[in-house]
Formats: sequence, structure tokens, C-alpha cells
Amino acid sequence: MAEVEIRNVKKIYEGGVEALRGVSLAIEKNEFFSLLGPSGCGKTTLLRIIAGLEQQDEGEVLIGGRNVDNVPPHKRGVGLVFQGTAIFPHMTVYDNISFGLRMRKYPRQEIRERVRNVLELMNMPFEKYAWKKSHQLSGGERQRVEIARSLVIEPKVLLLDEPLGPLDLKIRQKMQLELKRLQKKVGTTFIYVTHDQTEAFAMSDRIAVMEKGAVIQVGAPEEIYRRPLSRFVADFIGETNLIEGRVEEQNVFAADGLPLIRIAPEAADGLVGKHAYLAIRPERIYLSDSIDKENRFTGTVVDKTYMGPYAMLKVEIGNNLVLTVHVHEPEILQNLNLGDRVPVCWKASDSYLIER
Ligand SMILES: Nc1ncnc2c1ncn2[C@@H]1O[C@H](COP(=O)(O)OP(=O)(O)O)[C@@H](O)[C@H]1O
Ligand SMILES: [Mg+2]
Repeated sequence: MAEVEIRNVKKIYEGGVEALRGVSLAIEKNEFFSLLGPSGCGKTTLLRIIAGLEQQDEGEVLIGGRNVDNVPPHKRGVGLVFQGTAIFPHMTVYDNISFGLRMRKYPRQEIRERVRNVLELMNMPFEKYAWKKSHQLSGGERQRVEIARSLVIEPKVLLLDEPLGPLDLKIRQKMQLELKRLQKKVGTTFIYVTHDQTEAFAMSDRIAVMEKGAVIQVGAPEEIYRRPLSRFVADFIGETNLIEGRVEEQNVFAADGLPLIRIAPEAADGLVGKHAYLAIRPERIYLSDSIDKENRFTGTVVDKTYMGPYAMLKVEIGNNLVLTVHVHEPEILQNLNLGDRVPVCWKASDSYLIER
């Protein structure tokens, strides 16, 4: 049984904005599950509906197998961490974290025990942090207190809405790893909202990619990266070269003005004779003509950009088709100039097809 089940949830706001157009999801117990999509695609709306802060127009939400549509937020067994701060700056860390427990009239001793344990979990020693005022903390520490404050009531499900948004990149990356470690340790189901694919990739067991109020693909990060099912997902998750054309045969793809392209037969299942995009990631294209790659072309370098760990080349292989190629060997780059003719190649099995 799924820990959180969303069945065909629709939401139209006043003014007619269709924020959710029939979303269905099943999120397993102990899963780190992310909702990933561009701003405005309905992530926050879905999270607020799960929390009970917003009412859907259609569909159901089940938590632990129970329909919660008539259950108020504080009785749903969910914790909430939002971007921006819900903690009180002039209260101590201890008072902030214990707030929910005091509201629920827990005994003093148990409150102290729980605050100690949850601070320990967040790698914040009780003696060092409990009596600090929250405004004396760094951004990363405040975010940890925020999470501790939600975890201390031991929710079944923790909902997090872009909680690391305001933090600097370095601290954000550190917090991503910590959050993942924490989630595995406490075993609480996490539903994490973000528009940042690297963040979703770094932490999630599974990701739901959303676009315009709909979930368009659900899967493990590797799966979503390797086999995006739509052009939108391919574009949104990293960079992809898309070549428009037609699947001629089970292993042949034809694009205007280019020699025939070899594709993996299994990729073409059900697509023979149809128009499609052939997709190939920039890191799967090589500047060589090695014979173990079925597709070998010659192109012209039209742009080169140094990116630090790699270089991004734009290579025109004909008919205005420009491929993006990532080159990881700096030696290759040094000897390349704009206008140079270069070989490019890729393996048929490294490409995939997207229906148009
Ligand atoms: N309270 C509201 N009233 C009217 N429209 C809203 C409200 N909240 C969100 N929306 C609209 O619903 C859509 C989805 O918003 P939201 O769920 O916040 O997206 P996300 O979190 O993915 O950025 C957007 O078009 C947004 O402008
Ligand atoms: Mg949002």
C-alpha cells in the first residue's frame, strides 16, 4: 500500500487558472520523492492539497490508505517545511523546535528528550545550539532548525517546498546530502518540491516531472535522464540534442539533408514509419571516428565555450543542424578553432527516440 496516494486530483483557482489537471501519484513508505518542474506548474498547489491547506476540486488524497479529504491539516500526520522562515527569530532554538510539542501538551521530560534527539540528527549538538537565539544562526543552520521543528512531531510524511532555495550554492549542496542522509536515517516519507533538476537528482529515489498542472513522467533519476518520454522532459532534464526526422526502419532514422542515422532496434518499437525526434546527450557524442560507433559524421566547429570541467562545442553536421558536444579532454579543445572540420560519432544505443 502506498503511503501517499493521489487520485486524479484537479484544482482550478478562482480566475480560472487550472493549477492541476488530474494528477495521480503513488508515493511509497520511506521514499524520497520529488516533484520537479518549472515555476507555475502546480507543485506547491499539490503539496498544499496533501497537507490539507488547500482543497482540491476533484479527486482524492489518501495517506496511509485512508482518505483524508475531511481530516484537518494537524491531524493528517504530515509535517511541512516551506521556503523562507517559519521559525521565530527571537525565540531560542529550543523553544522553536519544541513549539509543536508544547502545543500538543507533551510532558516536559519527553519534550527535552525529543529536542535533544532531533538536534543530534541534524548534527547540531544540543549544548551548543539549544539556547541560541534563532537570529544568531547562519542560513544553513536556520534551515536545519526549520526541518528539526517539523521532524520533532514525528510525522509520517514530511512535505518540503523548495526549502533550500534561499541558500548559497555550496551550502545548498551540503544540505542536499545531509537531507538525503537524514531521510534514510529517520525513514520518514519525504515529498520534496523543487524546480532544480540537479537538486532532485542528488536526493530522490524517484522523481515526478510536472508540466502545466500535469505529471508527465515518474521514475528514478537515472531512468528519467536516460529515457525521457517527451521532448519537454528531455529538454528540462539536462541538455539534449534533438534531431527531427522519420523512423525509416527498425534500425534506421532519416533526417533531411543528413546521411541515414543508425538507431537501436528496440528504441524504434512501434515507431517505424512515424515522425519522431532522435535524442542524443552531448556527453554521448565523441570527437573521433572510432569504428565501434555506428554513426560517424564530419562537421564544422561553429562555437566553443570553456565550462570548467568540460568544454561545450557546437558542431554543424549539415543542413543547419548544429549538435552540442561536451568534450572532457582539454588537449582536444586547445587545438580546435572555429571553422575547423571535425569528426563526430555516437553509438546507436546511446540515442533514443521521442514521439512527436
Ligand atoms: N491562490 C491562488 N490563486 C490563483 N492562482 C494561483 C494561486 N496559487 C497559485 N496559483 C496559480 O496556479 C498555478 C500553479 O501555481 P503553483 O502551484 O504555485 O506552482 P509552482 O509551485 O509549481 O510554482 C500558477 O499559474 C499560479 O499562478
Ligand atoms: Mg511553488
